[in-house]
Amino acid sequence: METKTDHIIWHHGVVTPMERKVLNGHGSGVIWFTGLSGSGKSSLASAMEKKLFDLGIRSYILDGDNLRHGLNKNLGFSPDDRRENLRRVGEVAKLFVDAGLYALSAFISPFQRDRQMVKEIFGDKDFIEVYVSCPLTVCEKRDPKGLYKKARKGEIKDFTGVSSPYEPPVNPDIVVQTNIYSIEECADSIVKYLIEHSSQE
Ligand code: PPS
Repeated sequence: METKTDHIIWHHGVVTPMERKVLNGHGSGVIWFTGLSGSGKSSLASAMEKKLFDLGIRSYILDGDNLRHGLNKNLGFSPDDRRENLRRVGEVAKLFVDAGLYALSAFISPFQRDRQMVKEIFGDKDFIEVYVSCPLTVCEKRDPKGLYKKARKGEIKDFTGVSSPYEPPVNPDIVVQTNIYSIEECADSIVKYLIEHSSQE
């Protein structure tokens, strides 16, 4: 069967990933934060960005709230729209990795099969899955944007944890518990993991 890419020919660049790595002095990859709304994904991504910057490592944040204002503004929160949201983000993150950066991706990404889809775009060493673990009761108490309150009143449909499920990762590379440890401590443990693993490349 004919597909939409049948007559599209890939254009290869002349600068190789290894040449970019040498130029940058570091590798590239995806750090994928998954967790409930209010679990601390965006705060962690920001803390990581600063820590990596201070270490001379280039990174950039891809954040659900932000991308849904632009690239993904035609998508809602049905399972199909969430899947398309994450497919697009995965493809953008792939370009970042190719460009020699770390993509710090903060998305609820509630469904195992969708996270698996994104993961399969990358090799194991280029993709670190971070489960930002925090009990629903704590996230709901934090409610930084007042969204849980609205969801409980029925003003937001398909709200993760309330009217739409969250499937915790089965085998994440790192679990950080933001209800027990500070954002700084959690970010430090991820940076440590990253440095230990990138030194083995
Ligand atoms: S997903 O599931 O990965 O596609 O979601 P994501 O792109 O990360 O977007 C989550 C942010 O959107 C806001 N929001 C909602 N979240 C969950 N369910 C519903 N129905 C919803 N409506 C709006 C919310 O601010 C999420 O941001 P975080 O940072 O997770 O709180």
